[in-house]
Amino acid sequence: MSAANRGSGREAEQPRIGIGILGKGTVGAAFRDLLEQRADMVEEVSGRRPEVSGVVSSQEGDFDRILADSEVIVELIGGTDPARDYVTRALREGRHVVTANKQLVAQHGDELVAAAKEGGAQLRFEAAVAGAIPVIRVLQESLGAVPIEKVTGIVNGTTNYILTEMARAGLSYEEALKQAQDLGYAEADPSEDVGGADAAAKMTILARLAFGAPVSLDDVPYEGIEEITADDLAYAKDLGLSLKLLGVAERLDDEISVRVFPCFLYPGHPLAPVEGPFNAVTVEAPVITEITMSGPGAGGEETASAVLGDVLSVLSGGSPLFEENSRLSVARDVNSAFYLHLEVEDRPGVLARVAEILGVNEVSVRSVVQRGLGDDARLEMVMHEGPESRFNAALEKIAELDFLRSPPRSIRVIEEEFV
Ligand SMILES: NC(=O)c1ccc[n+]([C@@H]2O[C@H](COP(=O)([O-])OP(=O)(O)OC[C@H]3O[C@@H](n4cnc5c(N)ncnc54)[C@H](OP(=O)(O)O)[C@@H]3O)[C@@H](O)[C@H]2O)c1
Repeated sequence: MSAANRGSGREAEQPRIGIGILGKGTVGAAFRDLLEQRADMVEEVSGRRPEVSGVVSSQEGDFDRILADSEVIVELIGGTDPARDYVTRALREGRHVVTANKQLVAQHGDELVAAAKEGGAQLRFEAAVAGAIPVIRVLQESLGAVPIEKVTGIVNGTTNYILTEMARAGLSYEEALKQAQDLGYAEADPSEDVGGADAAAKMTILARLAFGAPVSLDDVPYEGIEEITADDLAYAKDLGLSLKLLGVAERLDDEISVRVFPCFLYPGHPLAPVEGPFNAVTVEAPVITEITMSGPGAGGEETASAVLGDVLSVLSGGSPLFEENSRLSVARDVNSAFYLHLEVEDRPGVLARVAEILGVNEVSVRSVVQRGLGDDARLEMVMHEGPESRFNAALEKIAELDFLRSPPRSIRVIEEEFV
């Protein structure tokens, strides 16, 4: 008898749905409360009453016993160990799994899909990306037949909150981070968020779904916001731009590129007005032009609602697409426009020398502003879009110039507007 048949046998025998909950922290506790509050609705939708078959935490719970007594396993531990072992075992044994764990899905997606196929079970992970925003369901189901060209996301609420406060209240990075920690938007160790690793894991998942290509976390270069200064935000304010940490996954002929970086956005971009701890994702394809979804990206109750939505989807039987049949490979060089900030000595010939290096590397300049005098002299330049490899080669040479007062700083600029 296959695992899938074993699963349906259990459904026939039992008038209740056994739900095993792994983790009872922020999301686990909120999910348990929500399940209790919404049990009547789940019973109406599925025809059977949900019942928590057991809870596992670091201190309590016997996973094997709970597995034996569950039809659905909800994984809310986080990280890969022991979540990976629990989830793969559950799937192989025909239990549907709902998880909010982005690291697990981004790092071990292939293994989980294989285990789900082996067990004839469903794997759902809506809450792993962008909290309560149903972006996974939209990519897997609503847009499942649409050839997607680009997915751009603000997928980390902590960094969006910090950048918003730096822009709004003129705070330094350190002050904004401290404020985010005091309000519970940033963890005591914020490195995963502010360094871009959290957003990279989420973009890995979105790219796999959007392009059906086997993107791995190692294919996703990422930068964070630790180096962003008040000067960068002042420049953005002067020109009416926003500064965001974005994840960008795009199709480039027969390659794809997935990256995370801070960048300036023009006001006509749908992600430009997204402020505070909110998340938002824009999906682009010729047939739909552009769809943007935004909402709370984290929080126990918000995430628990996405988890319960997945549990309902599992119980109503639909199986999401998670097929990877595309031959698209990951691009090593992509086109970007850059802003370049140089603190320079106030003397003749400085601009000409910088322009010469850019010219030799075929980087074309869109605008130049000279600010300050004497010890405060700065050049702020924006380049036209071109291969990043050329800009980086020019930047290396510029960094060697003897009239620089500090290392050059560059930030990407997205020129796309939807107006
Ligand atoms: N918090 C959010 O807003 C949010 C948003 C989106 C997604 N998520 C994701 O949701 C998941 C859970 O996050 P959370 O914020 O709820 O985490 P959390 O508050 O730290 O809770 C983690 C839970 O896992 C349990 N646990 C830890 N190690 C364990 C082990 N070795 N074996 C069994 N249980 C173990 C903990 O047990 P103890 O209770 O004994 O400590 C705790 O109950 C993560 O994947 C996270 O990325 C969270």
